[in-house]
Amino acid sequence: MAIKAFILDLDGVITDTAEFHFQGWKRLAEEEGIEFTRDDNEALRGVSRRRSLEILLGEHQDDYSEEEMQEMMDRKNGYYQDLLKQMTDDDLLPGARELLNTLKESGFKIAVASASRNAKTVLNSLKITDEFDTISDGHSVDNPKPAPDIFVHTADKLGVKPEESVVIEDAEAGVEAALAAEMTAVGVGPEERVGKAHYRYDSTADIDVEEILA
Ligand code: BG6
Ligand code: MG
Repeated sequence: MAIKAFILDLDGVITDTAEFHFQGWKRLAEEEGIEFTRDDNEALRGVSRRRSLEILLGEHQDDYSEEEMQEMMDRKNGYYQDLLKQMTDDDLLPGARELLNTLKESGFKIAVASASRNAKTVLNSLKITDEFDTISDGHSVDNPKPAPDIFVHTADKLGVKPEESVVIEDAEAGVEAALAAEMTAVGVGPEERVGKAHYRYDSTADIDVEEILA
């Protein structure tokens, strides 16, 4: 079936917010006396805010009440939002603008499907909100990636079938979600992270749309 739509993840595909997320979680971890390294942060790629906190707390999770968990998520998000204030349209990843232009010129529907509840703020800072036919974020569905829900929901909003949709993702959880949604999965990043995708490229700038459509 012919491809009609491209559904793009945001963090790690269009812009790189991983460092800001890391700084936010690192500050929270230090305040709580928990060790958290840049390596540990890799496990949070594409994962929801709550799941990220659970991973960060690890065995300490049982020491915290639901209210305390909520407060920590809010605290980290405050740190993250402060860092986001520095973001401008210079922070598009190399190749992101060109990719959007190529997809638009070829007549595809394009959407963002991000786990982030800050996705709209990030898109506004990057000044690309109007480029998309629809935007799904961390508020759109209950079950986060690796569940297929956000991609199925986004394809529905675009009025296309899963088999007419291509998902571009930098996270293992995102690739799993795209495959579970029975869409064409394009991974951005190393083999060990996104190797299960139908197509894999080292970076957004390397994505070859013609190859995906062939
Ligand atoms: C994803 C990021 O896009 O959004 C994750 O890759 C992040 O690292 C998740 O945890 C949720 O983000 P937010 O902005 O809702 O805390
Ligand atoms: Mg991502």
